[in-house]
Amino acid sequence: MPGGGDSVKVAVRVRPFNQREKNAGSGCIISMKGDSTTIKNPENGSTKVFAFDYSYWSHDGFQESDGGVYTPNSGTSNYTDQRRVFQDLGQGVLDNAWQGYNAALFAYGQTGSGKSYSMIGYGPNKGIVPITCEELFKAIETNKDSQKQLQVSFSMLEIYNEKVKDLLVKSKQAPDGLKIRQNPQAGFYVDGLKNVPVRNYKEIEKLMEQGTVNRTTASTNMNATSSRSHMVITIRFNQVIRNAGGESNTRSSDINLVDLAGSERADSTGATGDRLKEGSAINQSLSTLGNVISALADIAGGKKNVLVPYRNSVLTKLLQTALGGNSRTIMIAALSPAGINYDETLSTLRYADRAKKIQNKAVVNESPTDRLIRELKEENARLMAALGKGGKSSNSEELQRLLLENERRMSDMNKTWEQRLEEAKKEWEKGHGGLEHEEGNVEWKQVPFFTNVNEDTQLSGVVKQCLQVGETTFGRSPTATYTIRGLGIQEQHAIIRNNGSKVTMEPVNGSKIYVNGLKLKEKAELHHLSRIKFGSSCLYLFVGQVSERKPNDEKEYDYDYFMAELAEHRGVAIDLQTPRINESMENLKSYVIFQEFMDLLPQISEANAISLELNKGVKFEAEIKTSASHDSMQNQGGKEVIIQVTNEKIRKVWIWSKEKFLHRKDLMEEMYCKYMDGETLPLGRDKDPFWDPVEDIFLGSCHVMLQSLSYCVEIDEHFTLHNYHGKEEAVMKVRIFPLSEKGEYLGEESILEPRELLGKPFNFEISVPECMGVRWCSEDRSRGVYCKFSVMDKEPVRSQTMKGKGYCDFGLKHRVREKKVTQEFINYLQTHSLVVELWGTQGEPGKLNEEDQIHQKFNGTNGHAHHDTDDVFSELKNKDLEIEQLSKDLDALKKENFNLKKKLDKQQTHIDMKKSRRGLHSAPPLDVSQASIPDVGLDADLAQALRIFFKDIKDVQSHISQIKENAKMSQGGSTDNGNIKQALGKQEQKLHEVEDKLTGCVSSLKESVTNTLRKAKR
Ligand SMILES: Nc1ncnc2c1ncn2[C@@H]1O[C@H](COP(=O)(O)OP(=O)(O)OP(=O)(O)O)[C@@H](O)[C@H]1O
Ligand SMILES: [Mg+2]
Repeated sequence: MPGGGDSVKVAVRVRPFNQREKNAGSGCIISMKGDSTTIKNPENGSTKVFAFDYSYWSHDGFQESDGGVYTPNSGTSNYTDQRRVFQDLGQGVLDNAWQGYNAALFAYGQTGSGKSYSMIGYGPNKGIVPITCEELFKAIETNKDSQKQLQVSFSMLEIYNEKVKDLLVKSKQAPDGLKIRQNPQAGFYVDGLKNVPVRNYKEIEKLMEQGTVNRTTASTNMNATSSRSHMVITIRFNQVIRNAGGESNTRSSDINLVDLAGSERADSTGATGDRLKEGSAINQSLSTLGNVISALADIAGGKKNVLVPYRNSVLTKLLQTALGGNSRTIMIAALSPAGINYDETLSTLRYADRAKKIQNKAVVNESPTDRLIRELKEENARLMAALGKGGKSSNSEELQRLLLENERRMSDMNKTWEQRLEEAKKEWEKGHGGLEHEEGNVEWKQVPFFTNVNEDTQLSGVVKQCLQVGETTFGRSPTATYTIRGLGIQEQHAIIRNNGSKVTMEPVNGSKIYVNGLKLKEKAELHHLSRIKFGSSCLYLFVGQVSERKPNDEKEYDYDYFMAELAEHRGVAIDLQTPRINESMENLKSYVIFQEFMDLLPQISEANAISLELNKGVKFEAEIKTSASHDSMQNQGGKEVIIQVTNEKIRKVWIWSKEKFLHRKDLMEEMYCKYMDGETLPLGRDKDPFWDPVEDIFLGSCHVMLQSLSYCVEIDEHFTLHNYHGKEEAVMKVRIFPLSEKGEYLGEESILEPRELLGKPFNFEISVPECMGVRWCSEDRSRGVYCKFSVMDKEPVRSQTMKGKGYCDFGLKHRVREKKVTQEFINYLQTHSLVVELWGTQGEPGKLNEEDQIHQKFNGTNGHAHHDTDDVFSELKNKDLEIEQLSKDLDALKKENFNLKKKLDKQQTHIDMKKSRRGLHSAPPLDVSQASIPDVGLDADLAQALRIFFKDIKDVQSHISQIKENAKMSQGGSTDNGNIKQALGKQEQKLHEVEDKLTGCVSSLKESVTNTLRKAKR
């Protein structure tokens, strides 16, 4: 190994921007000089420097050759290509293997940071694993020494959810996966894992390909993309050297190549503070790896009595030798260059910094072959004796198993290498066809096919399902042409017919199929490059007849494209292609939130599908919470993705953070997998990821501008409360009025300029008398609501909880006393709003409130108030009469309004004439709410008339509100009579029209008055 010594070597590598980062207009926060890497905080520009064994710049300065290989674009470019990484790291691994040292190389970093690119590579840009294998065989082929036999065998496994899956086995494996065992010589190992002897690089390539196919097919079942599972490839390299005396020595090396799950999953549990904190097994291996690395770094730093928790996870058991023992180990930390990933990238750098402290003690694994056999024989004898003594003891089964394992290893050793190669070849052919065939299944070159699309680019386009002429079926059933398991997939899901020129697809029994983002309801033709989604997460691209295909035409349709298209049909439009340049931090933050929201959509739809299949009755919806809903300045800044969780069976609602949802989703998946494997699910709520204790929920808020108060003008209005979606939740009356020192109501006479308040005491009262049309309670009468607000960041004031009513009589009053008004206080009033929030309490379904019980008793119904039809008609008639009267009033008001306007205009002309004589111009109109009403010596009659008019109109407005509320309530109660409902609907509409007209009149009048007053003042 270059540099010698056994401390873990650490390399970091930064990749180019991806399309998303370009779209977000991200800047590069990583810079490199020599072996050091600097990261810059995009918020404040501060930097942190880290030193590593290698710092690889792969961000820019490269070009793509004709064959698609990325290389530096000039002599001065510092771009590090795949070859260079191999030369620095892979070559060292190979040298070690030849010397008989174990070696390990693992890639760490967040999802999409470039782990798989460095390890496996993409297309012609092969990564360390294939190049190392290729170079190993190149060197083996030059071996002319007949006394030296070189043996290579290959294994490939995946750890997902703490279960080990052999990726070289095609058939279905035990639900619990392979067992991890321990023996004195080999340490931890995977019992029964296929270790396939190979004779050339081509065979390794085939095995890797098959391993990827197996991994992909499994991932469509439960969306276990590589970002969530760990992949371990082990190359065992033995050199059997015969000496002159005919005795042989075996020098062996295990090369472990590990592509880890995305690091961001390591601590999602810790962040949530969730009730179910023991967490899901999905994170266990990664978080334990972090703990093991920290413990080993502590030991290397001289700390005593440190326990290294290898045994806490499957991954750390298997990597025990690689991390803290007989191995020469390298870690590649993959970095995203984008500012939006700052936190995660910094944590990767810190992780890498800890890992470089670890010290290993690698030794050459070489011993006479005879001695190895002798040791195995001795071990066998010991096991037999123990078995004989123990009789039928509890561990006799384990001893028996160890004995068998030993015998298998002895028989392997006694066999010639050629025999083992031959056996492996035969076994492989049974399951997969020829290992050394140049190409496997190539039917897709002649017929239309479906190819899989995965979130992980490494696993996309791996599976090709051919659609032969005739009928092809997809579904869960083993009798389907292609058996696919997965969320929302039915036994028989889709029938595809190919008549040789046209391909059609038909859903079966309403199965969930989307084509190009739209739900497929009946048989339809598929066109080349149609995007298909089966159930909740199986994505395919349809590749049509050979004549329709063009080179690289599938490339554009990646996972992001599918998601954007599906979202677009739900009304969320995304521009995938246009990069943003020089955007403000605010816009970038919104973009990041939007992306987070988008990323959550497929997860949400999966959670909903699991809930449906497990009959949980829980619905998940993503929302964007804006702090503007709670902020008295209506600041749009703080946005956050939240998940609304509704249990439709018991009508309860929760709000979860994104982290909590993702953690729970992992637990739901585990639960679902158990269910699919036929296990009984735990009954208790304690472990149920769908359940939580009840909590109060934010329903909506309104903002009452306090500006008028600074002019001592009373606020008395109805405000609509909006939820995070902007949807109406209720209408609330809020009154805020100034009070005298004695606490008496100050009339409209006391109108002041704000600065006149300075230095004086100022009191006002906030009252929230009532709230109407409360949807939360109308939907379920066992629920309750309360409102709360806070003035100038003081303790919130809260109303009592009102249960089960669409109309809530809060009667909440709160007095604010300011002893001496300061400029700051005036500024506060002029720039802030009072935020009144409405919160909902959860009810007990089935349990009725008092009002309902009375209704029920009175009407003899089951909870739904039922009016007698005659009653409703007479009520309706009365309301019609009321509306007619209101319309008449409105006409009268209009006339009055017109007369007033005329009077005002006259007054205006008079003032203008006076002004023009003085050489002044009139000022632009002012918003009525900003205009202080000055003492301008107006005609006393006019002032009196105005006051009466405003008073009248207020009465009419409150009348209308009441009628509206009544209409809403009676409409809710008589759902069973269509005609009445229709009539009521019409009536409500009329009412709306009257109200609109009235509001229009008032505001135009207000405007004229304000303008006139303004002008008059000058
Ligand atoms: N050095 C690089 N040069 C060019 N492209 C790169 C480089 N590193 C990564 N990429 C590209 O970035 C994308 C994501 O990389 P990759 O699949 O390796 O991420 P990953 O870390 O394995 O993610 P996951 O955790 O999801 O498996 C790929 O499309 C890959 O081609
Ligand atoms: Mg990967």
